[in-house]
Amino acid sequence: MYEMVHHMAQEVGTPFYLYDKAVIRRQWEALHENKPAQLRVFYAVKGNPTLAILRIFRALGAGVEIASGGELFLALKAGFSPEDIIFTGPAKTDAELEFAVQTGIRTIHLESLREAERLHLICTRLEKRQAVLVRINSSMEVKTQVQLSGCPSPFGISEEDVEDILPAILQLSKLDFKGIHVYNASGILDYRLLLKNVEHVFELVTSLEKTLEIDIPVIDFGGGLGVDYSDRDQHVDVPSFYRGFDALMHEYGFQNRHFILEIARYLMASSGSYITKVLDKKMSRGTLFLITDGGIHHFMRKALFDSNHSAEVLQSTISYQKETVHVTGCLCTSIDRLLTEVALPKASIGDYIRIKKAGCYSLSAAINHFLSHEMPAEILLEGKDWKIIRSRGKHGDLLINQP
Ligand SMILES: Cc1ncc(COP(=O)(O)O)c(C=O)c1O
Repeated sequence: MYEMVHHMAQEVGTPFYLYDKAVIRRQWEALHENKPAQLRVFYAVKGNPTLAILRIFRALGAGVEIASGGELFLALKAGFSPEDIIFTGPAKTDAELEFAVQTGIRTIHLESLREAERLHLICTRLEKRQAVLVRINSSMEVKTQVQLSGCPSPFGISEEDVEDILPAILQLSKLDFKGIHVYNASGILDYRLLLKNVEHVFELVTSLEKTLEIDIPVIDFGGGLGVDYSDRDQHVDVPSFYRGFDALMHEYGFQNRHFILEIARYLMASSGSYITKVLDKKMSRGTLFLITDGGIHHFMRKALFDSNHSAEVLQSTISYQKETVHVTGCLCTSIDRLLTEVALPKASIGDYIRIKKAGCYSLSAAINHFLSHEMPAEILLEGKDWKIIRSRGKHGDLLINQP
C-alpha cells in the first residue's frame, strides 16, 4: 500500500482521496443479494457526487436520489435518465422545482403543503404534470447522530398532521400522488431497528389508506444503513433485514407495492480513504500531535461527529512501536482534528496517514473554502490500475466567479 500511495502522492500531491471500485461493487452486490424484487436501490448523490462515482452507480443499474439543482445537473451529466432520478430536500427553490419538472424526473418528494402548492403552480405554468411522493416525519424515534424523523425536524410533514394535510395535497390537480417517503435516521447498524421502522411505516400506510380512502403504491424508506467507522468493523446484517422485510411485506399483503431505499453511506463509505502527509510532529504539554497537510476542509467527520475513523500510518520502513497521537490538519482552528487519541505506529515526517472509510459525506460535507487551500485530487483504483477522477485544484480556482 505504501508504494502505491507514495507513487500517487508524487503524481497528484497530498492530500488526496482514493476510492476502490471493487469495494463499491462489493457493497452494491451485498445490497442486492436476496433483495426482494419490489425494492429498488437509489444512490443518494450527496454522499459523494464525483462524476466518476456517479457513473459507476449508473453502470450498476442504480437510480439516484438528488437534493439540489446542482445534484440534478451532475446526475444528468453522469448519464442518468430522468426516469431514474428522484428529488428530496427540505427547501427546494422554484428554480430547482422547475428544472426537475422540465427534466421530467421520476418523482419529487414533497416536504410540506406549501411546497406542494408551489410545485402545482409551476406545473400549471409549464402545462406539465409531476409524480410526487409526500415525505412524512414519522413519530418513531431512532437515536443516531443523524436523526431526521421522530423528533422536531424541518423534514416532511409530522405524522400527526398527515391526515389533515394530505387531502389538500391530493386536491392539487397537476400533481400525481404516488406514495410516501419516510426516512427515519442515518447510520443504523442494527437491522432490527430498520425493520421496526418498516413495520411502523406499514402500519401508517394501512391506516392512511383506510382513513383517507387512497392508494399508496410507492413507499420510500430513505437511507439509514450504517457503517462502523472503527476497527471493530461491524456490518449491518442485510440478509436478515431482507428476510424480515419479506416477512412483513407478506404479513401486510404489500407484495404489489414498489419500495425504495436511497442509500449513500452503506454504498460508499468503506470504499474511500483520505490520504494526508505528516508535515510536523510536536509534543505539546504532554500530548503528541501529528500535524498533516490535510484538514477539516476536506474531511470533517471527526470534528462533526466526534467519531475516530480507523486509520493507519503508511511508511517506507514499518515501525512496530506504537504511540498515542492526535492527528491534526493545516487549518488555523482548534477544531481541525482528523483523529484524536489514537494508537498508531510511530510516524515520522513525510509518512502518510490513511483515514479509512472516508468515501461518503467526506469531501462533499466539509468546509472546503476555509483557508483557501486547493481542493484535493480524487483517484479511483480499478484492480491494479488507478486513474485520476478529479485533478487537484489550483490557486486560480479561488478566483472563479469573482470580478
Ligand atoms: C433524503 C435522503 N435520502 C437518503 C440519504 C442517504 O442516507 P444514508 O447515508 O443513511 O444512506 C439522505 C442522507 O442524509 C437523505 O437526506
